[in-house]
Amino acid sequence: MLEKLQNLIKTGEKVAMLTCYDATFAKLMELAGVDILLIGDSLGMVLQGAENTLNVSMHHMTYHTKMVKNGAPNTLIMADMPIGSYEQDNEAAYKNALWLIKSGAHMVKFEGGGKRVKTARYLIEHGIPVCAHLGFTPQSVNQLGGYKVQGKTDESAEQILNDAKAMSDAGVSFVLLEMVPAILAKKLTESISTPTIGIGAGVDCSGQVLVLQDLLGIYTGAASKNPAEFKCPRFVRNFLQETNSIEIAIKNYVKAVKNKSFPAPEHSY
Ligand code: KIV
Repeated sequence: MLEKLQNLIKTGEKVAMLTCYDATFAKLMELAGVDILLIGDSLGMVLQGAENTLNVSMHHMTYHTKMVKNGAPNTLIMADMPIGSYEQDNEAAYKNALWLIKSGAHMVKFEGGGKRVKTARYLIEHGIPVCAHLGFTPQSVNQLGGYKVQGKTDESAEQILNDAKAMSDAGVSFVLLEMVPAILAKKLTESISTPTIGIGAGVDCSGQVLVLQDLLGIYTGAASKNPAEFKCPRFVRNFLQETNSIEIAIKNYVKAVKNKSFPAPEHSY
């Protein structure tokens, strides 16, 4: 499955990825032609109602990964490694990654560059495909001082480029870029052989990802706590607003990614 997708990317086709947490939506997404389903630790916010992803556990991740696998047996499945499951040592990271693979994932994703390059190399050497998540990394929201665009200064842009190159050399299958300037994402995508997937990273990545609830315009977390102050993130487009069918909204997302009409400049930094 991964090889087939990699060959498609080589032809210039864009990858359409969505977060998914259960079998019902997994089935709809598979039928709509979504290329990769991500069991994101964003489930802490969109399913559990928490403020961030910091309370998500391996049990939560494996539980939802099994459901997604049941609904979409023929689609590439990527699962997030939650905070605390990969940072301490490579053996623990391997054990937890393997648990996600045994639950139905084809690939795991974890956050950060730097020290995490060794973890990526270790997992890949042990047969587990990896996606590296760079730019804004939600598990570090407290260190980063909130939900902020990363890579705006020359120094931080250089750091993201170096991390992406090191991850690519380590053999990761994808680099996911969250909330970085479109110009940086373009430069980075052109400078490594590994495909990139963007969220708030402009149209020039090799593919795009959105959180399902954002695509459907469901804002129950921060939005419902303080509706007057809630500002929808710039990179979100509500595809359900444009139709009255969830199936068609998902299909339209896939179409918009493939024909490069999403993200438009107004969704990018
Ligand atoms: O957890 C998640 O949903 C993610 C996306 C923001 C890419 O990592």
